[in-house]
Amino acid sequence: MNERLSEMLGIELPIIQAPMAGVQGSELAVAVSNAGGLGSLPCAMLSLDSLRKELAAIGDRTDRPYNVNFFCHATPEFDSKRDSAWRALLEPYYKAYGMDPAHAPEMPQRVPFGSQVADVLERFRPPVVSFHFGLPSSRLMARVKAWGSKVLSSATTVEEACWLEKHGADAIIAQGLEAGGHRGMFLSADLSSQVGIFALLPRVIAAVRVPVIAAGGISDVRGVAAAKTLGAAGVQIGTTYLLCPEATTSAVHRAALRSESRDHTALTNLFTGRPARGIVNRLMRDLGPINDAAPAFPLAGVALAPLRSRAESLGSGDFSPLWCGQNTSGCLEKPAALLTQILAGRA
Ligand SMILES: Cc1cc2nc3c(=O)[nH]c(=O)nc-3n(C[C@H](O)[C@H](O)[C@H](O)COP(=O)(O)O)c2cc1C
Repeated sequence: MNERLSEMLGIELPIIQAPMAGVQGSELAVAVSNAGGLGSLPCAMLSLDSLRKELAAIGDRTDRPYNVNFFCHATPEFDSKRDSAWRALLEPYYKAYGMDPAHAPEMPQRVPFGSQVADVLERFRPPVVSFHFGLPSSRLMARVKAWGSKVLSSATTVEEACWLEKHGADAIIAQGLEAGGHRGMFLSADLSSQVGIFALLPRVIAAVRVPVIAAGGISDVRGVAAAKTLGAAGVQIGTTYLLCPEATTSAVHRAALRSESRDHTALTNLFTGRPARGIVNRLMRDLGPINDAAPAFPLAGVALAPLRSRAESLGSGDFSPLWCGQNTSGCLEKPAALLTQILAGRA
């Protein structure tokens, strides 16, 4: 099984560095790919121009396989009533900072995978393309496959894994509840369907024929071995790379990861409108980590952006998404190549 995945993706080690939008760019991806794993470039928040530049940078710095990652959510209609209610909830914080909630500046939004992105990718033909929140339309999938990319996507339930296999995924990432960042859930919004990796992985493996990659809470070589014992063809690891020098993790995020607060994570929809796991901070404590007032993904983040940047400029992560999984035990401030070797049991 491991050989099947390594052969399919052209990698030496069964370690995939999880794409992590907002905390890394090509530098981390290149370091992991050059170390024999699969480095990933998160593209959900990149403009077309930045995407071109990052892909060119990868091409210049490695001839090993790499992964590019996109979101597949449906773009929501703007709901002005909901947006006003959300801003009203945030108003006391704006006032405390002496800011006007009506003047929220533009910020880069998470844009779903579309034909313009496909036009850019076609020139670079990335070896692997991974998706979160399902898969793009069959027309776009056909384009991606036509230029030779292997396609991965995250499943958080057995039903999602079967759906992904049926719609053309070449391998499935089983995302356990321990995982940092957004839940990849796309068939149901019911959080009671979300389970830990040891409950999810064997059931997904029994249900599909394609290789299954384990994600969530894996932070050392024993975790990698445990996933393999349960039948995983490889692992996708995110949180463990957050302190690497090649990651662009912010100062407040790094400080939280180094403090005891890293032991307190929760699923929250406050920062984007979709549930994601992060370190519990003031906003999550005040409004409850899950709050129905948060606008639909990805719009919740717009009204929060000014608060976040003001707080961060004062050294506070009170309004920042501090994405983090449940297991930070392997987070090391070491180069990503060395960390990859450690995770693979080679160092
Ligand atoms: C900071 C952070 C950002 C993330 N951003 C993305 C992303 O942009 N795309 C994606 O597919 N997954 C994203 N994820 C989820 C990962 O793909 C993966 O499921 C998770 O990192 C695995 O669990 P772990 O963090 O415990 O290793 C993110 C995770 C973290 C920690």
